[in-house]
Amino acid sequence: MRHWPITGLELTTPDLILRLPTDTELDALAQVAAEGVVPDGAVYFPQPWASAPPPERARNVVQNHWWARGDWTHDSWRLLLAVFHGEQVIGQQNLSARHFATTGEARTGFWLGSRFQGQGYGTQMRAAALALAFDGLGATRVTSTAFADNAASRAVSRRFGYQPNGVHRVAVDGCPFDEHEEVIETADWRAHSHLVTVEISGLPACITYFR
Ligand SMILES: CC(C)(COP(=O)(O)OP(=O)(O)OC[C@H]1O[C@@H](n2cnc3c(N)ncnc32)[C@H](O)[C@@H]1OP(=O)(O)O)[C@@H](O)C(=O)NCCC(=O)NCCS
Repeated sequence: MRHWPITGLELTTPDLILRLPTDTELDALAQVAAEGVVPDGAVYFPQPWASAPPPERARNVVQNHWWARGDWTHDSWRLLLAVFHGEQVIGQQNLSARHFATTGEARTGFWLGSRFQGQGYGTQMRAAALALAFDGLGATRVTSTAFADNAASRAVSRRFGYQPNGVHRVAVDGCPFDEHEEVIETADWRAHSHLVTVEISGLPACITYFR
């Protein structure tokens, strides 16, 4: 789209392509969420969207994408990318920031449909987001938070050399959870970026949307 050039942004890893979804693809992504993202009873997000009933979960995915685009400003943006394995949409990778031009800091979030988990895709998704942040946009720090018992998410951060950056206690549905924040800075990214090859295309046309 001429007037929303982020639609031309594409991140490619060995197995995946990450880009904004069309509405039809967004509907498919919502269906993947409806079919399951977290194990029954697990709480991995501060907003417990993933444990809502399937129709609500799916609608939340759709609205979240539209909201992120509608709410986008230079000083506060949330990039929600659909993740494709071939023709199949399998999950979502987020990169977001506030006052990025000043702070150089962004944060990531991600999820995969249950049947696509544990096959190395999350590692490739995080690498794509980190490559965009550090190599594409010139970030100096990227943070990620995961609940204490979210072994897969924390393993991805460990793999890329993140450092602990504090523990926050949050309330979800009236229960306390410890959310571990981890941070990766430029030097650690440089030391680990070889783990996954990432190609970025379409960034020059939309870089002013980010910084
Ligand atoms: C978190 C998530 C995106 C990770 O993606 P993934 O494709 O499943 O992870 P990968 O296959 O790339 O594995 C990454 C690491 O986690 C480890 N791992 C994967 N699943 C695991 C599990 N259930 N328990 C422990 N470790 C696990 C892998 O062994 C690997 O570690 P290594 O790099 O040391 O070998 C995915 O599991 C998911 O969507 N989970 C549900 C939603 C969620 O928790 N989102 C994040 C909220 S912070």
